[in-house]
Amino acid sequence: MNELTQESNTQKVALVTGATGFVGSHLVKRLVQEGWQTHIICRIDSSIPAFTDIITHFHDGSTDSMIQCVADAKPDVVFHLASLFLSQHEAKDIDALIQSNVLFGNQLLEAMRVNSIHNLINTGTSWQHYNNEDYNPVCLYAATKQAFEALLEYYVQACDFKAITLKLFDTYGPNDPRPKLFHLLNKAATSEQTLDMSKGEQLIDLVHIDDVVEAFMIATQRLLDNKIETQESYAVSSGKPLPLKELVQLYSKSIEQPIKINWGARPYRFREVMKTWDKGPIIKNWSPRITLEAGLKELTD
Ligand SMILES: NC(=O)c1ccc[n+]([C@@H]2O[C@H](COP(=O)([O-])OP(=O)(O)OC[C@H]3O[C@@H](n4cnc5c(N)ncnc54)[C@H](OP(=O)(O)O)[C@@H]3O)[C@@H](O)[C@H]2O)c1
Repeated sequence: MNELTQESNTQKVALVTGATGFVGSHLVKRLVQEGWQTHIICRIDSSIPAFTDIITHFHDGSTDSMIQCVADAKPDVVFHLASLFLSQHEAKDIDALIQSNVLFGNQLLEAMRVNSIHNLINTGTSWQHYNNEDYNPVCLYAATKQAFEALLEYYVQACDFKAITLKLFDTYGPNDPRPKLFHLLNKAATSEQTLDMSKGEQLIDLVHIDDVVEAFMIATQRLLDNKIETQESYAVSSGKPLPLKELVQLYSKSIEQPIKINWGARPYRFREVMKTWDKGPIIKNWSPRITLEAGLKELTD
């Protein structure tokens, strides 16, 4: 139990968007464990995992519905994680990207303003910093994350919001439903088929989901302790990125099976992130605790 729940007699209230996703579902579990009354906002057709002790609000897509969700929850802190991730987009994706990553978020900010709720933990991405630049989006998804931050800045400047944006890198851990690297590697190992990959020199900065959730909890404490004036932004980085090729070797060692890879058979992706962003400040009192070796072992146990 953290300082907050020990010291406070009144139960704190959280409202989480993106709670059905990989990071959001782990965050919700931790909030509930720590004694928060936890509310989530879902779409009407979201498939909701079997959470216990949470209160679900359904958003019908309108601003009025969002205002009602926030009014019903009356949160002390809003955690905004909902997002549509697309590493590359096509013309047909524009509406969904803007709807999920800009419109939904703006409706949330407006609903907070109308209900006089001012504390927000937001989720950004290291992909807002291609080539290690202050702002250079890797892809349109990353540009929409930046667009949301620009909207948030208005609410911070004009409406007294306090916000912390945590910029995530690659997260991993148990119960990850996303079709990501480790799923592919597992499939290749068990089928003994050869996997075509790029040259594998791109750096990957992996942070275990429990460490990511810990960063959210530390940021929340900071917000509630009134340690911030306006808006802060932090990188949730392992500080130890490694080339994809090395990561595959580590994973192969961890599952004790060879993985056949045809390195260089595929070109790098358009705007592949070869070097990860390393200029973001790290939030005080946080550092990753789970080593990659331990995290990979947990995935394969
Ligand atoms: N995981 C990573 O490695 C990583 C890296 C960098 C940044 N991030 C950021 O971290 C956050 C969480 O990522 P994640 O990997 O956990 O995401 P995820 O597993 O893809 O889940 C996305 C979540 O967003 C919700 N969502 C999407 N569009 C929505 C909309 N229009 N209205 C309401 N809900 C909507 C989804 O709800 P439904 O169930 O309704 O689809 C789902 O709960 C995101 O903001 C992402 O940009 C993640």
